[in-house]
Amino acid sequence: MCGIVGAVAQRDVSPILLEGLKRLEYRGYDSAGVAVIDENRSLQRTRVQGKVGQLADMLDTNPLDGHIGIAHTRWATHGKPDVKNAHPHICKDTIALVHNGIIENHESLRKQQQQSGFEIHSETDTEVIVNAIYACLDGKDFLQAVFNATEQLEGAYAIGVINVNEPERLIAARKGSPLVIGVGIGEYFIASDVFALLPVTQQFIFLEEGDIADITRDKLIIYDADRRVVDRKINISELSADVADKSGYRHYMLKEIFSQPEAIAASIEGRIHDDKVALDAFGENAEKVFSQVKSVKIVACGTSYHAGLIASYWLEEIADIPCNVEIASEFRYRKSVIQEGTLFVSISQSGETADTLAALYLAKQSGFLSTLAICNVAESSLTRDSDLVFLTNAGPEIGVASTKAFTTQLVGLFLLVVALAKSQDLSEQAESDYVKQLMSLPGRANHILQYKEAIETMASDFSDKHHALFLGRGSLLPVAMEGALKLKEISYIHAEAYAAGELKHGPLALVDADMPVIAVAPNDHLLEKLKSNLQEVRARGGKLYVFADKHSQMDSSEGVQTLQISNEYDYMAPILYTIPLQLLAYYVAVIKGADIDQPRNLAKSVTVE
Ligand code: F6R
Repeated sequence: MCGIVGAVAQRDVSPILLEGLKRLEYRGYDSAGVAVIDENRSLQRTRVQGKVGQLADMLDTNPLDGHIGIAHTRWATHGKPDVKNAHPHICKDTIALVHNGIIENHESLRKQQQQSGFEIHSETDTEVIVNAIYACLDGKDFLQAVFNATEQLEGAYAIGVINVNEPERLIAARKGSPLVIGVGIGEYFIASDVFALLPVTQQFIFLEEGDIADITRDKLIIYDADRRVVDRKINISELSADVADKSGYRHYMLKEIFSQPEAIAASIEGRIHDDKVALDAFGENAEKVFSQVKSVKIVACGTSYHAGLIASYWLEEIADIPCNVEIASEFRYRKSVIQEGTLFVSISQSGETADTLAALYLAKQSGFLSTLAICNVAESSLTRDSDLVFLTNAGPEIGVASTKAFTTQLVGLFLLVVALAKSQDLSEQAESDYVKQLMSLPGRANHILQYKEAIETMASDFSDKHHALFLGRGSLLPVAMEGALKLKEISYIHAEAYAAGELKHGPLALVDADMPVIAVAPNDHLLEKLKSNLQEVRARGGKLYVFADKHSQMDSSEGVQTLQISNEYDYMAPILYTIPLQLLAYYVAVIKGADIDQPRNLAKSVTVE
């Protein structure tokens, strides 16, 4: 998704803006640009279709110098990726603006603006904002113009705006899209997230919904949605500036796959005392809320949705609590019947996913018992606006394809299930057994990572394939779905996941020698059923790739490649069996030469609908 950086300082801000853009690359983008006000009070702008590296090359040849500036990485929504659509957008050489979000009423605003004589230079929804601000200036104060212009906007925005006539003033606003202010010594910065600014500050203010900030080098005034001056807390980030390096791995995704044992350990740490789940891991009020829970509604998108699906198997089996899981973009637009005592759980790596946030805001008005967020970003909108929070503590995830964020979400969800089961009379012995399973995870995850080479070899079979089928049963079905999602998003091979029992109801028609079938087959109560389903595949000439455990009694044979990745079966299986599928997707994508950390058309933080 689009990334914003801005700065007002006594030094030249171009290097800060460029470094900030590099650090936002992980969010996904297709074009980039920067604008500064130079010493002659003139706006200077450079934009490229392509990578920040190309922008940097252009700035090497034609540097832009200025003490105030804004910069942007664009992920196309309205208008194709090209230079004229790249931000910053400028109106009449006076106002420059960068924007993240979507302006829903852009068409009507554009029409009005054209009628009143504005020339339109791009196909973006953003250009109407910069024109609206210019139109509102009309002899008025810059800040007042931004107040008035934003009132005309419907939709979501985070913006940074500069004005040649007030070359020391940077105005920032947010509604529906995230924006942070970095506090320096005699300088201020803005950005879409803290990573962009870590080289220049550790101090951050997170703007809240509807806030507008009036920023000069030595003064910051924040107005809330009612235009009252407000104090917003300064947060000190503990992240170090080099958090985003690859530590010798070829890709962030590989680093993140291999960091899962530590990430999982970090998400368990402090959440278990004396073999018991510490309820305060979910917030102060958790014990009281959990004792009233009669059912659970989980809402999320993409990979996080798959985590929710797995949790629903655990919840009904371990805690005897009914659970329903729904995709956020569906939940937010339909009428749901909410039963008394239902806990609303949202799951999100970023905590800024527009659909998940909208679902949370809807849930808050819909009579749920309480809202709980499972999230990896402490200061995200989702964590700030939920009643209870479990922080997954996975550390920043940079690769667009989610890996450690997913497995640590599952840790949080398993802890939640055990916590809820405790309120339903779970015995101490059972609780301690579940806790032991959880504590065994880092070591067992490490063991599975050692199959890296075998999986890399397996991946070579996929290089000429166009389709793949993933099969699982029970709580391993969402694992198969996650494996298919990983393969398609980073290798661009079309992949589908099915409950293995569904094969004969349709998808079996697709199976032939060109359709590899990947199965996750732990030694659970459905194993024999799954084996029969796999026979159906073999009988049609389909080649099988099976991830099983030592006791699954499945060996490699003609047309069947089996990797026995685990020694025993327990509730941790969905977490453990995810890892080989991540590695498989990764190595297939490597062979295909794909852009693994920034797959085409995808963004890390999906802050627009
Ligand atoms: C896939 C992936 C996405 C995200 C989805 C939700 O690898 O990462 O499917 O899971 O966009 O994002 P979050 O979890 O940030 O709400």
